[in-house]
Amino acid sequence: MDGPRLSAAPLDPAAPLRGATVVVGVGGGIAAYKACELVRLLDKAGAKVWVTMTRRATKFVSPLTFQALSGRPVFTDLFSLTEEASIGHIQLADRADLVILAPASANLIARLAAGMADDAVTSVVLATKAPVLLAPSMNVNMWSHPLTQRNVQTLAALPHISIVGPGDGFLACRWVGPGRLADPADIVEAAASLRTPQDLRGRRLVVSAGPTQEALDPARYLGNRSSGKMGLALALAARRRGAQVSLVLGPTAQVPPPGVEVVNVTTALQMQAALAERVPGADAVIMAAAVADFRPRQVAPQKLKRSRLGGELTLELVSNPDLLAELGHARGDERRPLLVGFAAETEDVVRNAQEKLAKKRCDLVVGNDVSAPGIGFGADDNAVVIVGDGGVVATIAGSKLVVAHGILDQVVARLG
Ligand code: CTP
Repeated sequence: MDGPRLSAAPLDPAAPLRGATVVVGVGGGIAAYKACELVRLLDKAGAKVWVTMTRRATKFVSPLTFQALSGRPVFTDLFSLTEEASIGHIQLADRADLVILAPASANLIARLAAGMADDAVTSVVLATKAPVLLAPSMNVNMWSHPLTQRNVQTLAALPHISIVGPGDGFLACRWVGPGRLADPADIVEAAASLRTPQDLRGRRLVVSAGPTQEALDPARYLGNRSSGKMGLALALAARRRGAQVSLVLGPTAQVPPPGVEVVNVTTALQMQAALAERVPGADAVIMAAAVADFRPRQVAPQKLKRSRLGGELTLELVSNPDLLAELGHARGDERRPLLVGFAAETEDVVRNAQEKLAKKRCDLVVGNDVSAPGIGFGADDNAVVIVGDGGVVATIAGSKLVVAHGILDQVVARLG
């Protein structure tokens, strides 16, 4: 067999599943009910979802449920005249941009490893040239059985088959251990990755994100308005493009993306220590964090009492290290890792970004006008201008994920 077919649908890096034909093959296992959520999430991501089910899967969830969720007929029987008349299983296999098997039961995995095409699900898998994503789910002992492990290895060795999960935890069979179906959101994320060019595979990126908080006393701190969304979008986009990502994350309400190493920090000094550990050997560092420039000289050990302060409080602040400038100046002539900074400005964005590029010795500075309504701090959208040594190299506007991909395009071009 030659390699997996390149997807026919146009690839939008910020919405890799939009417009893609995704066939979900549901195997017979209690986790079949979670495939309902998977189909819903795929549909929400803009995919055209077709569902096929094994005969056993129909004992757990009715085909009608999947038909309602996907808005398309469900395939359960190779020999059904009505099903084959709507779109034949070979046509479905041809049309698929991606096939996801969830839950992939021990039995389904065994049949696939043996090359069988004895039902609608296995027939589609055998007939397709699209990438196939397997999400196993079964009893812990079935999963660890040498026969299952052998079958999984047989399938994983094929270039177009990849595996997500299983997760560890409490199983429906009352056992605890590996065997849980990966979270539907994580399956969708793995699918998004399969539909994204892997131009950062083999690269290690460090991304800082969020604000820092500098304590005044046990109850109060100095902070800023950064939500962390831009940095999280960068981490997500880099991970999807195949990078190994360490995310040094200040306090934020946002949920970090799956598949990245998260190092939680609170203060600028903690961020400095976390970077010192992660940066050596990295290919690129992107400083999206809004690091506090100052911190209180002293942190009061007890809560500051209004009654004891006599109506006034004067704070003495000391400078925090400029982490980006430190990284820039620590680099030798080879200028590795590649260094990307941000410049949050309210005027003269390009000129200020260029000044920061020189002062902090980075390769790229992403300038954004935080005074413009609807973009910048806390917003879902952003509009940025990227400057490099030769001046402006790109201007990008859109969702923070679109902007993240635009920034990574520049990183990829410079990593060579
Ligand atoms: N940065 C940093 N350490 C600091 C402050 C900022 O590493 N103590 C980084 C940020 O992560 C960002 C870049 O420097 O990538 C620009 O931060 P910004 O606050 O806009 O610039 P400043 O150097 O603080 O300059 P300004 O006086 O314009 O605020």
